[in-house]
Amino acid sequence: KASVEKGEGLGWGKSLLVPSIQEILKNDSQSVPERYIQEPKDRPLISQNLFDSLQVPVIDFSMLAQKDANEIRKLDLACKEWGFFQIINHGVREETMVNMKAAMAAFFELPFQEKSKCAKAANEIQGYGQNFVVSEKQKLDWCDMMFLKTFPHETRNFKEAVEEYSTEIRKVSNKIDANLSVLMGMDENGLKRKLGEFQQGIRMNYYPTCSRPDLVLGISPHSDGSLFTLLLQDDEINGLQIKHKKVWIDAKPIRNSLVVNIGDAIEILSNGMYKSIEHRAISNEKKPRMSIATFVMPGDEVQIGPLDSMVNGKHLPRSYRNIKYIDYIRQKFAMKMQGKAH
Ligand code: SIN
Ligand code: FE2
Repeated sequence: KASVEKGEGLGWGKSLLVPSIQEILKNDSQSVPERYIQEPKDRPLISQNLFDSLQVPVIDFSMLAQKDANEIRKLDLACKEWGFFQIINHGVREETMVNMKAAMAAFFELPFQEKSKCAKAANEIQGYGQNFVVSEKQKLDWCDMMFLKTFPHETRNFKEAVEEYSTEIRKVSNKIDANLSVLMGMDENGLKRKLGEFQQGIRMNYYPTCSRPDLVLGISPHSDGSLFTLLLQDDEINGLQIKHKKVWIDAKPIRNSLVVNIGDAIEILSNGMYKSIEHRAISNEKKPRMSIATFVMPGDEVQIGPLDSMVNGKHLPRSYRNIKYIDYIRQKFAMKMQGKAH
């Protein structure tokens, strides 16, 4: 039983060291160890077809570029009512996405010894490992992860595929940030002017198959601490679920699309007009699933709080106080530690 300190670099507090689920399954692909079995109330309903007709809104990015008023309205509504949308025609080349997925698959197929060479070290958030674990009693996620800071460039250290992908994604994220700035009552450069250059991190999630997907969770429910997150998910396999009006809805994959979700920082900046929505990932029996999440974040030292343009008229009262981003993240993890937040 190990309890090693790690992950203090970005102020995430201490995380306990847990085994690789991928390695556990190499010895017995059918096993579902006790620590991964969720409490009955938290287990996913695997054959839930009831809400199949509900779909995460799809935004045509090329229409936003043309400043199409209808598409901009759709984006605003998606952020208000879902906190999630899928974007198509986003301009990231299919080849870039295919190469990124292939690079990730190649990494996870390496022998454990090789992957462990980039294991998360003490005081680091980057590297190969598992989701944040705060207590010996906590149920574990059916997932291994690889986290990299992909911007600023100095800290880039992965393959060309990751560099190309994150460069392309940054272009998309700049356009999202410009649109959100306008929707929040500023000009296109409003967010950048207020927050400065954004940080960007990429987390690759590897979900092995599970013989009992009804008992476990790939990633347990949480909201993202980012400004917003762009997710490249498997083209075929459902996994991501979003809590929409109290029920879990599948974000069904659309080929070549990206799933975007509003994170806590935009919720705060928008004074709650846009919500950072709880989501989770489920596992499946058929095929390992991979997803690649790019987090767009303010700099650690930047103050975040409701924008002036979001604290007036119909947006009153002011619902959040100002806080330094790094302190916000520390607080979020401290609350998680007390079981108070996701
Ligand atoms: C995440 O929330 O970070 C991952 C979701 C997914 O794998 O679909
Ligand atoms: Fe997430």
